[in-house]
Amino acid sequence: MPETPAATVWQEVCGHINAAAFGPVIGALESGAVLERLLDAPEGREVDALAYETGTRSGLLHLAARLFELEGLGCRSGNLADCRTNWRLTQAGKKRVEGGVREALDRGECSSRLAQAMARIYRGRATSELAKDNLATLVWSEELAVLGQAGWAERRDGLWRLNERGNTALPMAAQFLYTDGYLPLLARAPELILGQTPYDLGRDGEGEETHVDRETDIAFSGLVFRHTCKDAFLELALPLFSSPARPSAVVDTGAGDGELLLVLAEALRQNGLPPVTMIAVEFNEVARSVAAHRLAEAGARHLAIRGDIGAPDAIAEALSTHGIDMADACHVSKSVIHNRSVTGEAEAVRDPVFEASLAVHLDQQARPLTAARMAGDLVEHFRRWLPWTRRHGMITIEAHSVDPKLVARAAATPILSMEITHGLSLQHLVEPAFHRRAAALAGFRSLAMRDLQTGHVGAPLMTCDHLLPI
Ligand SMILES: C[S@@+](CC[C@H](N)C(=O)[O-])C[C@H]1O[C@@H](n2cnc3c(N)ncnc32)[C@H](O)[C@@H]1O
Repeated sequence: MPETPAATVWQEVCGHINAAAFGPVIGALESGAVLERLLDAPEGREVDALAYETGTRSGLLHLAARLFELEGLGCRSGNLADCRTNWRLTQAGKKRVEGGVREALDRGECSSRLAQAMARIYRGRATSELAKDNLATLVWSEELAVLGQAGWAERRDGLWRLNERGNTALPMAAQFLYTDGYLPLLARAPELILGQTPYDLGRDGEGEETHVDRETDIAFSGLVFRHTCKDAFLELALPLFSSPARPSAVVDTGAGDGELLLVLAEALRQNGLPPVTMIAVEFNEVARSVAAHRLAEAGARHLAIRGDIGAPDAIAEALSTHGIDMADACHVSKSVIHNRSVTGEAEAVRDPVFEASLAVHLDQQARPLTAARMAGDLVEHFRRWLPWTRRHGMITIEAHSVDPKLVARAAATPILSMEITHGLSLQHLVEPAFHRRAAALAGFRSLAMRDLQTGHVGAPLMTCDHLLPI
């Protein structure tokens, strides 16, 4: 049991973040008759056969089996790395399914509304005003009423006001940005899981993504960088800029809101080091313009261009038109390698590290991929970057997949929700050892590595690595 009021509320926050994502998944599994078939099979079911029988998408059933394991509701056995997986409900899982899914659906809807309200409060910069319990309670009464349903606000004298739990929850409001950003995707979970159509996350008339509110997503990612990755990153990056053979630029591919580049520019200044050109490469137009705007506002020498992390040669070509030699840059990326497009066409690479993977690997059609095929894709990805990283290397910051049993045993975390959104949006999380082994097989050696966020489940949820071609 949590020991402090903050720990209790954090548990509630994680519960809501996870429920908002799990509710739609449970709903889809119920309407696809997957859960009833699992109940009828005490020994469990082979995932691909279950998908075939129920007409559900097999890759996403592999994902669902892992989600049940994360929650302690299910177990997977068989040869997971080769996608020959058996899925069985645990006693807790049976009890939950027998109890009906209505509660999970209602909870999911209620938690989604809470995520929207908390994200609005955070974006409206109202967290400190509301904590003071003044006029803001009137302005934010609609949001406070939603918080009331979560037990975080009470109605007194005709006005909704935060109670003690609400006041404790308010500083955690930023956590809900992530869920809020992915609500469009979560709303489509049933159709994606049950659908027989080609997997399509959808683009608007301008070709921009519709499954995620990218501005909200990158704001959240920027916060994670500042709170979790900044120190490790600067420790690895700063020495490069004090050497005589320093890079002339930093290329951040998938720069999001530009937070990493801004932090680095500021650190160079504070350390009395000369500025270098900060280059934000993005395949999302909203992110590209947010990064450009923030870098310009900060007075940093910068450039923001369109580019795909899977196609470094094309980025180099685009930079050369601006007179920039991409080989003379230090390359960085955070949470983008796992966002690359994985066709599944790369040759399989067999290795004990990959065979031990417990992650669910999917191609861009959400079809299950063996760990060896995913490894082949990742090795190829790293190889494409070799020519551009020989001088200054590449610093990768990545989020990872962890052993579900560790998550099931640990105190509250929002990992369930992260896995659902990453899985449905085809972001290919792998374990830290998988990432590092693929880099090594591609021809990189490790100059330095840091494990991040190790406290939550006893294994790193993120890593920061400085890699240099051998
Ligand atoms: C999770 S956000 C991370 C943003 C930023 N690196 C950070 O950590 O704060 C992922 C970013 O990568 C961009 N992105 C995703 N796939 C990409 C790709 N294949 N090439 C380039 N950028 C990509 C997205 O538009 C988004 O801005």
